[in-house]
Amino acid sequence: MKRLRLGVIGCGDISKYVLLFARLNRHIQVVGCADIDFERANRYASWFKGARAYDDYIKMISELDLDAAYLAVPHNLHFPIMKDLIEKNIHILCEKPITISLEEAIYIVDFAESKDVKIGINYQYRYDKACYRLAMAAQKGELGEIYYGICNIPWYRDDSYFKNSSWHKNIESSGGGTLLTQGSHALDILLWACNSKPVKAQGMIKNMKFRDVEVEDLAMGIIELENGTVLQVTSSMAALPEQSVTINLYGSKGTAIYRGPSFPRVKFKSAKVSRHRLNVFGLHALDRSLRAFTRWVLKGDIKYHITGREAISVLSSILSIYESAKTGEVEKVKL
Ligand SMILES: NC(=O)c1ccc[n+]([C@@H]2O[C@H](COP(=O)([O-])OP(=O)(O)OC[C@H]3O[C@@H](n4cnc5c(N)ncnc54)[C@H](O)[C@@H]3O)[C@@H](O)[C@H]2O)c1
Repeated sequence: MKRLRLGVIGCGDISKYVLLFARLNRHIQVVGCADIDFERANRYASWFKGARAYDDYIKMISELDLDAAYLAVPHNLHFPIMKDLIEKNIHILCEKPITISLEEAIYIVDFAESKDVKIGINYQYRYDKACYRLAMAAQKGELGEIYYGICNIPWYRDDSYFKNSSWHKNIESSGGGTLLTQGSHALDILLWACNSKPVKAQGMIKNMKFRDVEVEDLAMGIIELENGTVLQVTSSMAALPEQSVTINLYGSKGTAIYRGPSFPRVKFKSAKVSRHRLNVFGLHALDRSLRAFTRWVLKGDIKYHITGREAISVLSSILSIYESAKTGEVEKVKL
């Protein structure tokens, strides 16, 4: 397999981990790193032989012949940067969420499909072995009819979270708080497992701990799917101490109970479940996500687990929960 010529746009917190795994991957050649903070771009570029640093991603994508770009910037920049990448026929691994509005997301996936550009959204829990087993058990009917699912993300953030990346504070740049940024990973797994369109949502959001930021630090939502299954999500940045994510599914043949993402594990009660193994190997879910994206782009023999189009339902569910929190009404999930 040839090597993927990868450019990185946004050299902040998460890029550090993804690039750590890129360094271990002989199928990836990081050829450029771009960040408006040139020092950051330079630091990350220095990890890769021959990689160049840029303070302007437009310059990078014009000068380097990229196969793909990894995008890890504030949420409101996902849309304009992806648009520029698609214009240049560059495949994209974009951090979640795909965009901050449904209109932008639909525009981007239509545009990418018209140009045969592949977009993967890095919801890497889909490459967590235990989440995968839970989702496949549900999809294959091993849990029977799914009655309901519940996920809880009781996480903790201190002041440094908003100080170090101030874009998280504002709705305009982030699009939302803990539900969009953290809870969306687990909600995505429930939606994937249930494989049915979200149709209605209701929710409540609050600022329990961080009173001077525009985005919520606590969100609770309920979603009804087309097949009648009901999902519940709670996401928080205010739980002390931070605790594991749980994702539970309750079906007519049994129950699945997930805890993670550190030392991820899933237990099945009553149901008989097959092994369901991922089709990529790697040290961590982020590593496997990056490997799967690389193979999807270079060889095309496997599909990346979450394409841009598939990432729309978690975004639209969350936007409907936010809308319901404002109106106090049950909202339709627009898809
Ligand atoms: N998959 C995960 O588990 C995970 C975890 C954390 C963050 N994320 C996602 O990654 C993305 C980035 O989050 P982060 O925590 O790394 O944020 P961060 O603030 O640490 O990094 C963002 C970087 O983008 C740079 N940037 C801003 N505007 C830019 C531009 N126009 N061109 C190039 N670079 C620009 C900033 O200078 C900064 O270095 C978000 O979408 C976030 O939701 C995903």
